[in-house]
Amino acid sequence: LDTSKGDHDYPIPAGVFAETVTSVDHYTDRLFKFRITRPASFRFRSGEFVMIGLPNAEKPVFRAYSIASPSWDEELEFYSIKVPDGPLTEHLQKIKVGDTVLMRKKPTGTLVNDALLPGKRLWMFSTGTGIAPFASLFRDPETYEKFDEVVLTQTCREVAELRYGQDLVAELKDDPLVGEFAHGLRHYCTVTREDYRFQGRITDLMSSGKVFDDLGLPLITPDTDRGMICGSMDMLRDTKAMLEQFGLIEGANNRPDTFVVERAFVD
Ligand code: A2P
Repeated sequence: LDTSKGDHDYPIPAGVFAETVTSVDHYTDRLFKFRITRPASFRFRSGEFVMIGLPNAEKPVFRAYSIASPSWDEELEFYSIKVPDGPLTEHLQKIKVGDTVLMRKKPTGTLVNDALLPGKRLWMFSTGTGIAPFASLFRDPETYEKFDEVVLTQTCREVAELRYGQDLVAELKDDPLVGEFAHGLRHYCTVTREDYRFQGRITDLMSSGKVFDDLGLPLITPDTDRGMICGSMDMLRDTKAMLEQFGLIEGANNRPDTFVVERAFVD
């Protein structure tokens, strides 16, 4: 054990980075984003996740969090739900600038460009906080080097839950590093429990064909399209089934194919 204590009550466990919170933004009573300092030695691929914890117990609770910032960013960003009585998020939602967050050293994950065969169009399917790995990928120039077009879909219960993604997409245009690629990104937001311009689950909108009509795009085919999926267990299952109906095949880091699924966040 590293016995250095700093501003926390418990020693920092071995094998973790202790980083400092640089900003916190609350979006709704269920959603917030925070940013932390990035250790100089920490490398990751856009779309990967890490294990995050707090130095508030002898054996801290760690949970998988997608890194929402791109691999070139000098800080690390995370987008989190607040679970009532959740062992980590009940405390994490109270963090302030200057607090310490623990991060295990090894990033991993399947939502990486390397796990997909080259293609023309990349579809990113997300619900709720499932947008986080895509927030990393759609801010990474490498994504646009590999795909001519990126379609980010996010389905949420309520309109207010779309704001994180909408703000990021709007900011992308002014980004000095990736702004020039912004024209390659399409953003399709849908809401299921409030009135909104686009309503319904993305799975239903694919089976009816409405999403393709709304975007003016052809149906998904393995010749041109690639997919990445991040959401709840039910959403992963149903979206995977839909992509398989279109003829796509699930790949992995060691076996790239036409779509990939992240299962790290599923209970
Ligand atoms: P719905 O409101 O119809 O359940 P949750 O917060 O439960 O994870 O849901 C986030 C969003 O994902 C909601 O809009 C929800 O729609 C939608 N959703 C839930 N289950 C699925 C599924 N199996 N396929 C596609 N979307 C889903």
